Amino acid sequence: MSPRKVKSKKAPALPGLQAPERPARAPRRPRAKKTVAILSRKRSLYSTRRLVEAVKERGHRPLVFDTLRCCLLLAQGAPRMTYRGVEVRGVDVVVPRIGASITAYGLAVVNHFEMMGVPVLNPPTSIARSRDKLRALQFLARAGLDIPRTVMAHDRSNVRRLVEEVGGLPIIIKLIKGTQGVGVMIAHTLPEVQTILDTFWDLGQEIVLQEFVAESEGRDVRALVVGSRVVGAMRRKAKKGEFRSNIHRGGEGQAIELPASYMEAAVQAARVLGLEVAGVDMLEGRAGPRLMEINSSPGFEGLEGATGQDIAGAIIDHALVYAEQKAGGLRAREG
Ligand SMILES: Nc1ncnc2c1ncn2[C@@H]1O[C@H](COP(=O)(O)OP(=O)(O)O)[C@@H](O)[C@H]1O
Ligand SMILES: [Mg+2]
Repeated sequence: MSPRKVKSKKAPALPGLQAPERPARAPRRPRAKKTVAILSRKRSLYSTRRLVEAVKERGHRPLVFDTLRCCLLLAQGAPRMTYRGVEVRGVDVVVPRIGASITAYGLAVVNHFEMMGVPVLNPPTSIARSRDKLRALQFLARAGLDIPRTVMAHDRSNVRRLVEEVGGLPIIIKLIKGTQGVGVMIAHTLPEVQTILDTFWDLGQEIVLQEFVAESEGRDVRALVVGSRVVGAMRRKAKKGEFRSNIHRGGEGQAIELPASYMEAAVQAARVLGLEVAGVDMLEGRAGPRLMEINSSPGFEGLEGATGQDIAGAIIDHALVYAEQKAGGLRAREG
């Protein structure tokens, strides 16, 4: 690490973080050693640890920022950020890992980095789109991708019609902002549907009704997209008596060779949402992939375990290329 330089009266720069002094308006030059910041609640989490390792293996400098300890400073002029009281400077690219429980603050931090001109993988607007199940499906459906028929409504008087719209009983009911299988239910009768809907509406929760893709039989496919390719894929199987295949609900993952149609659907889905890194979940429908959900901070412990692939390495390689492209664009504009 380079020696600490203290600048003006502002908070001191983090060791190794300060941008080299340069005259105003000098064109930016690419530095050989890059600083890659990983936004994560805990550095001990598997995916965070693996990303740090991948940065080091490539001879670059990893920094882990606890998202909730990033302080965003706004006043007239350039936005600034401090981390535990220290000025944040010289970050070349940010890899955000924003858990669902801190979406709002996480998005503010990611937005702030973008305002500071730091490339962020994934961009904040894309993270926001993927967090809202309905918003994500709106984008996917418009792009012509196959999704389970889905209805959002607030009309208590017409539940039978809503159920018919998604193809009849049984149906899936989902909280729009659920994760890890929590908030995904199956209803087999109209009174059951009515009760579930009334309960969530009374609690002020937004939900969607969805066609139950029965032929998927408690299985789904997770494809991890980085840039414009699938770097790993697995099939998750729900435990006995469960229709949700989430690993957190006891599901198990197994590496698979993805058919071309699934690869194409996954890459297109990530592109439609504007995600550089995406965990794309698909149900195996009779006629091919049916897009279900896109995760913008996909954990990859299960996937690396199942496939033996270096997913962390693929993400960091792409982050470095992405940073270079963005910096190149900036140099071109400045030059
Ligand atoms: N329409 C559906 N038909 C059949 N199974 C579904 C459907 N939607 C979800 N599931 C099952 O429930 C699981 C969780 O649903 P998902 O929408 O991914 O919510 P979460 O964000 O909580 O993971 C899926 O992985 C899948 O196994
Ligand atoms: Mg899911």
